[in-house]
Amino acid sequence: MTKASGQAKYLQLTSAIRESIKRGLLTAQERLPSARELALQLSLNRHTVMAAYQELIAQGWLYSQPRKGYFVSKLLPIDSSDTTQQLADKKQSSGFDWQFTRAIATPNLESSDSYPYNFAGGTPDVALFPFNDFKNYVSESLTRPNIANLHYGNNAGFPDLIEQVSLYLRRTRSLTGRQILITNGSQEALYILSQLLLNEHSSVATEAMGYAPAWQSFRSAGANLVAIAQDEQGLIPAAFEQAIIEQQHLKPIKLLYLTPLHQYPTTVTLTMARRHQIYRIAQRHNIAIIEDDYDHEFHYRCQPLAPMASDDPSGLVIYLSTFSKVMFPGARIGFMALDKQLSDAVIGYKTIMNHKVSTPMQDAIARWMKSGAFERHLRKVTKTYHQRRDFMTQLLNDYKASGQVVAFNEPDGGMAMWVEINQSAAQLAVKAKNQGIYLQHEGLFCLPPHQNQDRFIRLGYAGMDEEKLKAGLALLFQAN
Ligand SMILES: Cc1ncc(COP(=O)(O)O)c(C=O)c1O
Repeated sequence: MTKASGQAKYLQLTSAIRESIKRGLLTAQERLPSARELALQLSLNRHTVMAAYQELIAQGWLYSQPRKGYFVSKLLPIDSSDTTQQLADKKQSSGFDWQFTRAIATPNLESSDSYPYNFAGGTPDVALFPFNDFKNYVSESLTRPNIANLHYGNNAGFPDLIEQVSLYLRRTRSLTGRQILITNGSQEALYILSQLLLNEHSSVATEAMGYAPAWQSFRSAGANLVAIAQDEQGLIPAAFEQAIIEQQHLKPIKLLYLTPLHQYPTTVTLTMARRHQIYRIAQRHNIAIIEDDYDHEFHYRCQPLAPMASDDPSGLVIYLSTFSKVMFPGARIGFMALDKQLSDAVIGYKTIMNHKVSTPMQDAIARWMKSGAFERHLRKVTKTYHQRRDFMTQLLNDYKASGQVVAFNEPDGGMAMWVEINQSAAQLAVKAKNQGIYLQHEGLFCLPPHQNQDRFIRLGYAGMDEEKLKAGLALLFQAN
C-alpha cells in the first residue's frame, strides 16, 4: 500500500476491503483478522488498520463485537453487493469448450426445507432426531477411535456397523446369509449397480410410477427404461413378462427396480401373490431385482411383509435400504444386503470411486445401534408418524367431504399419502409454492409422460407436526 495514489493509507485499505466484500472474497458474517494481525501482514501501523475498520463500520460494511472482533455485515448497504450464493449463481462459465462424453440433466437442487410447509414425500422430521444423545456416540468415536479403521481398507464398511446392520436386518427383516455393504446412501448403491449391470444395450424394468433418482442412475449407464403397468396391488406380473418378451431382441431387460413394501409414490404394498409371481418370472428370465426397502421401519397396520430378499433361493434380489429416513438424508449412509459375487464387484467399483464411507460416522452409528438408543428412537418416531398418518387421514376425509379431495387410501405405512384431487395437480403445486407450500405432483413420478393424468399429489405427513399439517392443508385447499 503506497501513498502514490495520493490517498491516505487507511482509505486505500478501506476500499481494498470493500472491493473484497463486493467480489465475494469476504462473505457476510466472516470474521476479519484483528487490527494487529492485519497490520503485521500488510506492514502497516495498527492505527491505520483501526481507522480503516472504523470507516467501514461507519459505511455499514463491517460491524464489531466486543472481545470477538470485526465481521462483515449481514445486510450489506448497497444493492450491488452480492451474497456468496448470488455470486456463485452469477458466475459465468469460463467459456472453455468442455468435451462432455455424456449428457447429464442439471439437477434440481431446490431444497423443500426452505418452504414453511414442506409436504415432500419422504422427509423425516429432523426435529425429532436425538442430536444430544447421538452426539455422545460421535464423541466416543473420536475420543476412542479404532486407529486401524481410520486408514484405507474395510471398503465394504466399518466392521462394527456391518455387524449391527446384519443383526438389525435379521431381526426386523428376516434377512440372513447375505453380504452387507455400507454405501453413501442408497443412491450410491443404485449408481454402482447401474454401472456394473447395465449398459446401452440393456433395459431396466421399473414401476410406471417411480423414483426418478433411481431412473437417473440407470440412464447414466446408458440403459433404456421400460415402464411396467401397476395397479392398486402394485406392479402387474403379466405386464412385466410381456415387456421382457418384447424387449428380448431389442434391449433385453437385465434388471427390475421395485419398491415392494411402500410403492413409491403410491404407497401400495405389493401383494404376497404378486411377489411370488414376479420372482418366478425374474428367475425364469435371469433378471436381477433391486428391492428398495427405503422406509420399512414405518409400518403401522401390522408387521411389514418380509422383503423379497428374505425368500430368494436364486440369490437374484439385491436389497437396499438407508438411514436417510430414520436419521436424516445428510447422514449419507445406506446399505445393501446381497450375493457375495456381486458384493465383491460393488466393493471393487466403490474403491475406485471413493474407497469407503466416512469411518467416524459409521462408527458413531454402530455405537448408537449397539447401545439400544437407535431402537428407542425408532419406536418413538414410528409412534409419532403413526399418529400423524391418522391425523392426516382425518383431515383428508374432511377435504373429501367438502369435495377438494376426490380419493385417497390410508397407507399401511410410510411417510406420505397419495391423494387424488379435483384439479390439475401440476398447477396446484405451482400455486402452492407461491404460498410457501412444497408438494410433489403426479407428473414428477410418471415415467411415460402420456400416462400422467395430472390428478394426484403426494403429501408427506412425517416431516411436520399436527398443527403444521392442519395449517398447511387449510392454506392449500382453501385458497386454491
Ligand atoms: C424410493 C427411495 N429410495 C431411496 C431413498 C433414499 O435415498 P438415499 O439413501 O440416497 O438418501 C429415498 C428417499 O427419498 C426414496 O424415496
